[in-house]
Amino acid sequence: MSYQVIARKYRPRKFADITAQEHITRTIQNSLRLGRVGHGYIFSGLRGVGKTTAARVFAKAVNCSKMIEDPVYLKDVTEPCGECESCRDFEEGTSLNISEFDAASNNSVDDIRQLRENVRYGPQKGRYRVYIIDEVHMLSTAAFNAFLKTLEEPPAHAIFIFATTELHKIPATIASRCQRFNFKRIPLTDMEKQLQGICEEEKLHVDSDSLQLIGRKAQGSMRDAQSILDQVIAFAIERDDEHSIRYDRVAELLNYIDDDHFFAVTDAVAEGDPKKMLDVARFVIDNGYDEQDFLEKLIEHLRNFLVVYNLRSTRLIERPEAVKERYQRDTVHFNSSIVMQMIDLLLQAQKELKFQFEYQFRFELVLLKLIEVARPSGSQPAAVPSGEEASEKKKPVV
Ligand SMILES: Nc1ncnc2c1ncn2[C@@H]1O[C@H](COP(=O)(O)OP(=O)(O)OP(=O)(O)O)[C@@H](O)[C@H]1O
Ligand SMILES: [Mg+2]
Ligand SMILES: [Zn+2]
Repeated sequence: MSYQVIARKYRPRKFADITAQEHITRTIQNSLRLGRVGHGYIFSGLRGVGKTTAARVFAKAVNCSKMIEDPVYLKDVTEPCGECESCRDFEEGTSLNISEFDAASNNSVDDIRQLRENVRYGPQKGRYRVYIIDEVHMLSTAAFNAFLKTLEEPPAHAIFIFATTELHKIPATIASRCQRFNFKRIPLTDMEKQLQGICEEEKLHVDSDSLQLIGRKAQGSMRDAQSILDQVIAFAIERDDEHSIRYDRVAELLNYIDDDHFFAVTDAVAEGDPKKMLDVARFVIDNGYDEQDFLEKLIEHLRNFLVVYNLRSTRLIERPEAVKERYQRDTVHFNSSIVMQMIDLLLQAQKELKFQFEYQFRFELVLLKLIEVARPSGSQPAAVPSGEEASEKKKPVV
């Protein structure tokens, strides 16, 4: 049997399986129930969050004969049945009632004219022909204009779904003729649940910390999470008879820098300890981690402190409980103004480092400067610690 990547194998086939986009699936299902299906839709949002998937389920649903013929089923279930001839055609990819058009590579007026021509013909079977126009923001202005008329007076059998990752590039003339749906980033907990389900299907044991790592790396895109999971499986399973994936292997593959190192930075600042800070810098450099990436994550680490200062809760921190508790504890060392200043310094450094070669020693300097930022004004920089002095602990900055 040929191997199919996870993202394709687990593409949802019904509305209920589309994670974290209930605000959209519910609206579409309601409009199906009420028989108020529009002709133009814009699906916008980040890559890999379900736009094409939802468009396909929608197309399948409007043509499902069970939904069309059985009012009770339509009202109670409002999902494509998956069994009628039309649903089967959709699932096998042979349905003529769905056309996917990639606007990134067919963006000329001629391409649109051809599409327009095609739209005039109604479906041979079923009720609607659904045109999914992907990456629609890539169409030229002339191509958009060529489309306007069709969108203004579409044939009764046509539904257009425009999918885009860049909503702001769609002309207002097009947007105002469509219903707009914004797909959200997939929250970490939903992502974890989805990945967990896939691992169960695949009979793999993966712990929740590993799934969280994968989810965080994917930054809200389900397709990215699933591709990373594919990669993790290939990398982390050592023998065929072994069906578990170890956290350390996942961390290794994803080049994940453990939270401890970021806490070491804030500890070094709190303690005014340049030696500790230089140790962290050395660790990053010696292990071949990307300095820019480290700074980016360090900013996120400091952002987590701000969350605690401002919300007095760790609710918005996407980390395991033990780490959240540590944030709560460590906030006593700083205050939000100091943390803001540290973030400013890092943002500035990120810009400057971009244009430098051999910037390892600059990276060290940036980290050392963090200690200066947090030092109460007027106090003297610490002398280079030596002998007894070095063992004397500095008071935390409060
Ligand atoms: N909300 C979701 N629930 C469950 N799976 C999802 C979801 N979003 C994406 N996926 C998974 O990711 C894959 C890709 O999703 P999809 O093609 O719908 O993304 P997209 O939003 O159209 O992305 P792009 O902008 O890159 O075209 C799907 O096959 C599916 O496995
Ligand atoms: Mg898509
Ligand atoms: Zn059906």
